[in-house]
Amino acid sequence: MNKPLPPLAQIPPQIAAAADYEPYARQRMTDAAWAYLNGASADEQTCAENRAAFGRIRLRQRVMADMRQAHTRVEMLGQAWEHPIMLAPVAYQKLAHEQGEQASCLAACAMGAGMVVSTQASVPLEALSDVAAPVKAPLWFQLYIQPDREFTRALVRRVEEAGYRALVLTVDAPVNGVRNREQRAGFVLPPGIEAVNLQGMKPVAAHTAQAGASPLFGSGLLEHAPRWADLRWLAESTRLPVLVKGVMDPDDARLALEHGAAGIIVSNHGGRTLDGLPASIEALPHVAQAVGDRVPVLLDGGIRRGTDVFKALALGARAVLIGRPYVYGLAAAGAAGVVHVLHMLRTELEIAMALAGTPTLADIDRSALWHM
Ligand code: FNR
Ligand code: LAC
Repeated sequence: MNKPLPPLAQIPPQIAAAADYEPYARQRMTDAAWAYLNGASADEQTCAENRAAFGRIRLRQRVMADMRQAHTRVEMLGQAWEHPIMLAPVAYQKLAHEQGEQASCLAACAMGAGMVVSTQASVPLEALSDVAAPVKAPLWFQLYIQPDREFTRALVRRVEEAGYRALVLTVDAPVNGVRNREQRAGFVLPPGIEAVNLQGMKPVAAHTAQAGASPLFGSGLLEHAPRWADLRWLAESTRLPVLVKGVMDPDDARLALEHGAAGIIVSNHGGRTLDGLPASIEALPHVAQAVGDRVPVLLDGGIRRGTDVFKALALGARAVLIGRPYVYGLAAAGAAGVVHVLHMLRTELEIAMALAGTPTLADIDRSALWHM
């Protein structure tokens, strides 16, 4: 096994773009943790496609526009941010840095970025709201509905009491994708890193696997998997708005709205669930069209540049989330690394807006893209 280097004490001047953090992060993680963090499912085609698809979209330059009142402010669900770049829910961030989610949260607060805290965070959800409360930064909580619905209900109460401002229900992972890279690297959670917010949950009675039995369908795992009625149940049992994350299809977006969704996050989980899905940016315009302006639509998957943020907004997203890029910053340099990643992306977004002649996010629409 490789021996990880300690986090950087200073950010090297060679780091000029978000992607430049990747090799620094790699050197600071074990092979197994890297396989979990960087990896995707099966042949990782969807993960690669998330990036490739952004590369196929061209921008339209507009010169001499009046940018004197330009800004990047955005509003969603009655909440406001200085810019539209949020931190996506990423589990077990102590794998990347000993301060884990606490450092990411500090960075999000410093940079006015939204943060979605994972159900499988490696620090208590209250420790993060304690970081965010003094600066009144709105935190959102990503929920996996647990087989134990009573536990799920109690978890939602905790989240409400801690002052979180929205729930993000992830619906695309009732079962893990085929995580071959993790399997080959023998990834298991190291001692001391766990989903602390799920402590005390009753284990579901395990079925005894029988030789020749159906490996997934015979396992009982999907018996407790959330269905549309669970979204309605959740939306009716909390005062928080519920966004649905992991939608790739306009029909599912319509169903989500019918069952109480207050927002839709177009996502293929960074290519970690069903390999073979298209890029999330390709699904976005279809979902955005189905949703219209009823609720905000967000996007994640493959955002590595400010121009990617711009393209997502042009195709109908109100805001975007980044996953791996900030965790690379976290692994390399803790909170300072996450701050730097957010700063570079926001700067690039502003440069793109200036060069495309779009003074506000609302000005970024289809007409900002190049159509031959
Ligand atoms: C994730 N993602 C994720 N999503 C979620 O809803 N709950 C979770 O706990 C996690 N955990 C998680 C761990 C790791 C290591 C990764 C890389 C991703 C998915 C995440 O929220 C987001 O959808 C993708 O990361 C976006 O793609 P990019 O930005 O990584 O390309
Ligand atoms: C993952 C789960 C935790 O992507 O969502 O690893």
